[in-house]
Amino acid sequence: MKFFVDTAEVDAIAELNDLGMCDGVTTNPSLIMKSGRDILEVTKEIAAMVSGPVSAEVVALKAEDMIAEGRKLAKIADNIAVKVPLTWDGLKTCNVLSAEGTMVNVTLCFSANQALLAAKAGATFISPFIGRLDDINLDGLDVIDEIRTIYDNYGFDTQILAASIRSVNHAKECAMIGADVMTAPPEIIKKMANHVLTDKGLDAFMKDWAKTGQKIL
Ligand code: G3P
Repeated sequence: MKFFVDTAEVDAIAELNDLGMCDGVTTNPSLIMKSGRDILEVTKEIAAMVSGPVSAEVVALKAEDMIAEGRKLAKIADNIAVKVPLTWDGLKTCNVLSAEGTMVNVTLCFSANQALLAAKAGATFISPFIGRLDDINLDGLDVIDEIRTIYDNYGFDTQILAASIRSVNHAKECAMIGADVMTAPPEIIKKMANHVLTDKGLDAFMKDWAKTGQKIL
């Protein structure tokens, strides 16, 4: 499973990128707002830093305007994936930009049927939002599972990009179901390294090591 980092904070991206834990980046209007940066500038900076796809989202609502914004964003770098919402206009935009050879990430997906439409519109990535489905007492992971089945049934190339990841369990379940990519905040990716028994074991080793009075360096 590829790891995309869901942030527009360049320092956090750099840390994971240097460690080989960043196969791409996703941003959205809320993350751009949080970063306090200009969308064109920060997207250019991120796209120069990472070699994988960097999603930058359009904000227009009509297809014609979305297409124009998407073309502008796509010009920033070769590794830009234009992010469009899963609306009828977003699907039209996906169809046009994909035909032009631009990677398109269709976002705000909450059902398997929406994902089927995105695949038929030529999306490179479909972004089902797990956490937001859980928020309304539905199971976001079920939707990932349904999309996996449908895409495999018909051999769609569209990659399932599990988004709105809120916990390390979400990450593990997505990997087990077979999501192609997950995009998670940096802190969730780092939390995947934690285990209480690792901490406990390390503590015991350090105490015993101190008793030896030895040094390695
Ligand atoms: O990738 C989508 C993500 O940024 C949304 O996450 O936690 O706001 O639902 P969240």
